[in-house]
This record gives sequence, C-alpha cells and structure tokens, in this order.
Amino acid sequence: MSDLTQLLDNNRKWAAAMTAARPDFFQKLSAQQAPEYLWIGCSDSRVPANEIVGLLPGEMFVHRNVANVVVHTDLNCLSVLQYAVDVLKVGHVIVCGHYGCGGVKSALDQVKLGLIDNWLRHVQDVANTQNGALTGLEGTARIDRLCELNVVEQARHVCETTVIQDAWQRGQVVQVHAWIYGLKDGRLSDLGFDSSNWQKERIR
Ligand code: CO
Repeated sequence: MSDLTQLLDNNRKWAAAMTAARPDFFQKLSAQQAPEYLWIGCSDSRVPANEIVGLLPGEMFVHRNVANVVVHTDLNCLSVLQYAVDVLKVGHVIVCGHYGCGGVKSALDQVKLGLIDNWLRHVQDVANTQNGALTGLEGTARIDRLCELNVVEQARHVCETTVIQDAWQRGQVVQVHAWIYGLKDGRLSDLGFDSSNWQKERIR
C-alpha cells in the first residue's frame, strides 16, 4: 500500500504545482477538451504520449495498446478514433510505434505468451506480408525494421476505416501520420507516411 501512497502524494504535489502556475487550469479544462491530436501508441511504459511531445492535459486524445495495432474489428480503438474525428474534430491522427517494441519482438520470434499471442498475430501478419523488406536483416535491425513497417501498416489501417474515409468524403481535414520513437535517445522520427495518397487513391 505504501507504494500507492507515494503515487497519491505525487498527485497532490503535481496538482498544486499546476494550480500555482495557472490558477484557472483545472477549472477551464474541466469545462471542455479541445485536443488537436489523436495519438495511437504502444502501451509500453517507456513511451508516455503527452510527455514526449511536451503536451499538457487537454491537448492530446490518446489510445494505447500493445504494439500500437489498429484492427478493423477493435471497437475500442475505432470508438476512440470516431469520437476524436467526429466530435472533437482533431486535425491529426498520429500512429506512433517505438524501436525495441516487446510486442513486435514477440511476434517476430513467435514467442508463446498466452492470450496476447492472438493480438500479436496482427503484427506477424505484417511480418509475413512485408517479408521482402525484412530480408537480410538480423537481430535488432530486423526487429526495428518491423517496428517501422508495423507503424506504417497501422497508419494505413487508420486511413481505411469508415471513420476517416467518411471524414474525407465530407471534406473534413484530418491527416494521418506514422511516427516512431527511440527508447535509447528519446527522439521521435516521422516515417514519411503521406495520408493524402490514400485520400486520392481509395475508392469506396
Ligand atoms: Co511496444
């Protein structure tokens, strides 16, 4: 229990510091949220979404799951996306993976971990379909390449959802990005995914 007391103490200090800096911060924020961004990232504790992009509470809507996977039957992820796009009207959806992702590594090594194997099956599918891009790569280089390929594939899935397709069809401006985070240096990289390509080419 003592460990949790520490967390609650930290929270009191954090809330006090925030209030000291901006006395109306929580009052304003409790009235409404108007985030510009939706973040779809990995659950990994080393990739805290708001912190690594320097955003405060209220500035980014967040969905995280193991290996930042976007599956068309995942009502959780789709509901977050739909609310973010249709109600909050975010201008950007950022799918962010990270190098050294344990989920990606497990998928690649086909490690047996239990129920989660079914979830990581989606990442194995990426490894299979993108096999050519992994050829000749071993060890860390192979894992990190699959981390990149997985982010791009999941960003593509975002573009293919009815939520994004419908938004584009009615002229709403929303861009989808594929980023990757380096655990070793704390730096984000843009993988150059251009969602406007999917906007032009996709025909429903
Ligand atoms: Co991860």
